[in-house]
Amino acid sequence: MTSRAASPDLPAELRAALEARLQGFSRNDAAERAAAISKIYREGGGSGTIKSKTDALAYALARMPATYAAVAASLNALCAIRPDFSPKDLLDVGAGPGTATWASAEVFPSLRRFALLDTNDALRALALDLFHNSTRLGGIGYERGEARAVLAKAEAADLVVANYVIGELADAEQQAVAALMWEKTRDALLVVEPGTPAGYGRIIALRERLIASGAHVAAPCPHDGRCPLAAPDWCHFTQRLQRSRAHKQVKGVELPFEDEKFSYVALTREPVTRHPARVLAQPVVTKVEVSAKLCTRQGLAMSKVPRRDKAAYAAARRWRWGDAIP
Ligand SMILES: C[S@@+](CC[C@H](N)C(=O)[O-])C[C@H]1O[C@@H](n2cnc3c(N)ncnc32)[C@H](O)[C@@H]1O
Repeated sequence: MTSRAASPDLPAELRAALEARLQGFSRNDAAERAAAISKIYREGGGSGTIKSKTDALAYALARMPATYAAVAASLNALCAIRPDFSPKDLLDVGAGPGTATWASAEVFPSLRRFALLDTNDALRALALDLFHNSTRLGGIGYERGEARAVLAKAEAADLVVANYVIGELADAEQQAVAALMWEKTRDALLVVEPGTPAGYGRIIALRERLIASGAHVAAPCPHDGRCPLAAPDWCHFTQRLQRSRAHKQVKGVELPFEDEKFSYVALTREPVTRHPARVLAQPVVTKVEVSAKLCTRQGLAMSKVPRRDKAAYAAARRWRWGDAIP
């Protein structure tokens, strides 16, 4: 059973479940709570502020579409490198409202067992509620507790995912949780963080430590060596997603889409056989050439594809930020 590329937008079943939960809630209350939660995030706080049913729903309406788009794009990138990957079980660490589980179920029809864990009662309850009517995800196992303690007892899984979680842990906890997640990974571990310099810093530190423990990088890097980027540059990608009416209302915005910036690393037990270069920024297309910033096995490269090279220029015009190119 092969993987399939996930759309960046929430699956219809999830969107409908979220909107159904909004019935009976005041959209103004949800918008106020979403604004308060975002403010706490901007000030460096975490999801500890999400305590009630309204908080959880407000958070999910405001943020789940973006964190979904980021994990879907990262899973798609992993599958582009490992098209044969057919995980049977998933472990979703810091699963919150279940975002990475929904995305993984979209990408991998092969998934049969889903295990989730999180400390947050309100988000866990919302996730279970959203899964309730899903034929595929109803009856899922969702443990409540600290990542470190729950992971220590968890069964290993073919695919382990931590989506926007590592940044909520204290430094020493980040290392311990990363090591435990790797211990529980039978095949691939995907870690996604906000696409800020700090999010990238956490990804790069985790990547380096787990390579030292025997991990191999499947994506985005075409190598297991040191990241060639130097500050103030940082490796991140962007994913556009459509905003539903409820999403716009809860965020108090009009624009029908947003662009989510994210950083990620997909690590595998076995070395990957394909090492395509990665496009690190949106290429600049002119009538003369396509210029693209690439990460290659040999390091950073500024590729210039001249128009006179017709076939190569036509192919390069289609390159997008984040693409793997042969
Ligand atoms: C930003 S949310 C992301 C949730 C979800 N992964 C997603 O993509 O929507 C961070 C999640 O990490 C969880 N979390 C933070 N610290 C944790 C810990 N020590 N153990 C387990 N979960 C934790 C929070 O409760 C929250 O659900």
